[in-house]
Amino acid sequence: MRKTRHAHRTWKRIALASLLAASASIQAEAFKHTAPEHLKEFEEALKLEPNIDNGRRLFKTYCITCHGPEGWGVAGSGYPQIAGQLKEVIIKQLADFRAGNRDNPIMRSFSSRRSLGGPQEIADVAAYVSSLPMTPRNDKGFNLRLEEGKRIYDELCADCHGEKGEGDHKKHVPRIQGQHYSYLMRQFNWIRNGRRRNADKKMVEQIQDMTPREQTAVMSYVAHIRPDNVAPEGWRNPDFDNFDRSWRPAKIR
Ligand code: HEC
Ligand code: HEC
Repeated sequence: MRKTRHAHRTWKRIALASLLAASASIQAEAFKHTAPEHLKEFEEALKLEPNIDNGRRLFKTYCITCHGPEGWGVAGSGYPQIAGQLKEVIIKQLADFRAGNRDNPIMRSFSSRRSLGGPQEIADVAAYVSSLPMTPRNDKGFNLRLEEGKRIYDELCADCHGEKGEGDHKKHVPRIQGQHYSYLMRQFNWIRNGRRRNADKKMVEQIQDMTPREQTAVMSYVAHIRPDNVAPEGWRNPDFDNFDRSWRPAKIR
C-alpha cells in the first residue's frame, strides 16, 4: 500500500516539477478566483514602497484587537499568528479576503477598502506585520511521531513551503514553521475540503490521501520547527507597551 502510494506520489512530484517550471501558470492558477480589480490591487501593493510608521498605525487601528499587540494570535484558537509572515503572503491573503476567496466574514470586513484603504495601506500594514518577531510559545500540538512528521514533510511539503517551513517570497507560499498547531490543522482541513477557495490546487491534490494520523504528525512537526526570528522569552512589542495584555478576542467557530 505504502509502496503504491509512494509511486503515485513520485509521479505527482514529476508532474509538479514541470508545473513549477511554468511559474507564470502558477501565478494564473493562484488567482483563478480573483476578480481583476483585486489582482491589480495585489500587484500594485507588491510594488509600492511601504511606510512602516503608517503600517504600525493601521495595525493598531484594524488588527490588534484580534491578532494581539505582538501579532501572535491566540494559541489553541482560530486566530493565527501573523507576526513574521512573509510580506508577499500577507498582501496576497489580504487581497484574497477582500475578494471573498477566503471564507472569513470578520477578516473580510476588517481588511476591506472602506476600513483599511487601498494598495498603499495594504503594503504598509503588511510590511509592519512581517517585521514583527514570532512567538517563542506557539501551540505545538503533539510530541509524538515528530520523526514521522518530518519524513512526510520532507516528502510532500518541502518543495513548496521550503526546507524548514520558511515559505517562499516569490511564489507567495506561506511561512508555516512555528505557527499555532490548532490554526495549521484548521487551515489544512479547509484547504483539503475546498472551503478555502484560494488554496493551491497542486497542494490540494497532494494531501488528499493523507490519514488523520499522518496529518497530526506533520502538523506537530511543522509547529515544532523554530523560526530564526523568534522573540526572546517574555518579549513585548514596545510599540504597544500600554496595551492590556489580559486581552482575548471573541471565540470563533
Ligand atoms: C475581528 C478579528 C480580526 C481582525 C480585526 C483582523 N483579523 Fe486577521 N484574521 C482573523 C481570523 C479569525 C483569521 C483566520 C481566518 C481563517 O481561518 O480563514 C485571520 C487571518 C489573517 C491572515 C491569514 C493568516 C494566514 O496565515 O493564513 C492574515 C494575513 C491576517 N489575518 C491579517 C490581518 C491584518 C493585517 C489585519 C488588520 C488590517 C487583520 N488581520 C485584522 C481575525 C481578524
Ligand atoms: C504545490 C505547492 C504546495 C505543496 C506541495 C504544499 N503546499 Fe501548503 N500551501 C501552498 C500555497 C501556495 C499556500 C497558500 C495558498 C493561498 O494562497 O492561500 C499553502 C497554504 C498552506 C497552509 C495554510 C497556511 C496559512 O498560513 O494560511 C498550510 C497549513 C499548508 N499549506 C500546509 C502544507 C503541508 C503540511 C503540506 C505537505 C503535506 C503542504 N502544505 C504542501 C503550496 C503548497
